[in-house]
Amino acid sequence: MDILVQPLNRVIRVQPGANLLKALQDAQVPMSYSCMAGRCGTCRCRVLDGEVMEGSGEQQRPFDGEQGVVLACQTYVTESCTIEIPEPDEVVVHPARIVKATVVTIEDLTHDIKRLVLRPAKPVEFSPGQYVQLQFTPEHARPYSMAGLCGDGLFEFHIRLVPDGRVTGYIAHELKAGDSVKVSGPLGSAYLRRKHEGPMLCVAGGTGLAPILSILRGAIAQGMKNPIHLYFGVRSPRDVYGMSWLEQLKREHPGLTVNVVVTSGGNPATQRCGLVTDAIEQDHGDLSGWRAYLCGSPPMVEAATVVARRRGIAAEHIYADAFYTQGT
Ligand code: FES
Repeated sequence: MDILVQPLNRVIRVQPGANLLKALQDAQVPMSYSCMAGRCGTCRCRVLDGEVMEGSGEQQRPFDGEQGVVLACQTYVTESCTIEIPEPDEVVVHPARIVKATVVTIEDLTHDIKRLVLRPAKPVEFSPGQYVQLQFTPEHARPYSMAGLCGDGLFEFHIRLVPDGRVTGYIAHELKAGDSVKVSGPLGSAYLRRKHEGPMLCVAGGTGLAPILSILRGAIAQGMKNPIHLYFGVRSPRDVYGMSWLEQLKREHPGLTVNVVVTSGGNPATQRCGLVTDAIEQDHGDLSGWRAYLCGSPPMVEAATVVARRRGIAAEHIYADAFYTQGT
């Protein structure tokens, strides 16, 4: 049986029951992947024609996803089909791995945000905007996004301490320089698209600034000249952090504009008051041709997605990383 791969218009021949990601890799079709376990979403593609199965062996069931979107690593081909792969020129392949790392620094960024810097025992490749799972002890693990670039040789994370949080309580009170941390990843599909030359809308809520900083640093390191409009939303003035890094990035990239939007109590001389989504709507009319990177709490990411769509950004050009709070 055959898989027709669009937009490459390539036909690849496969055995019945072949894993879709494996078949694409064997045929050297450019395809992003990371976890191979259905968790990270990096291998998302769309079935345009034909039926596929989800899961393998006895777990196999007909696929019933939204608008034909499947995870190639979890998909098995049972008849000839047509598959659309996303952005073949923006492929990111950093197979997920587990690496030991050591705490170099743990320090306060604000009243409830810590900056954690780790030195991995071996280099780990990742794309700007991706995240990893940090395991501090067998009982204390959480995903966090990197704020730097993989060439730094260090991992930097911004961790908001959740009131009564079990894992963040451990980070705040017990974790110290010299401790070992297990790092698994990288994961995540909200990474920098390097080939895009148009304007970029970057929206960060709270510690969503970490992956956005990585994306900004990555864009500058790549020599991208895109106009970049950053909206950094926080609840109150004491939640603002990272301004000296942003000033530095503005010096390096004159096309970067930074809007700090404080829900209430902001300083009108340097900050805007209200919601990031309102600020974006006030500033911009038509955003067609733009790309959007949205990182922060799920309600903020959802609201920013609605605004980005309403202003004309194509759904496939909105890269979202919603930080879900897990357990305590
Ligand atoms: Fe398929 Fe992660 S590689 S979901």
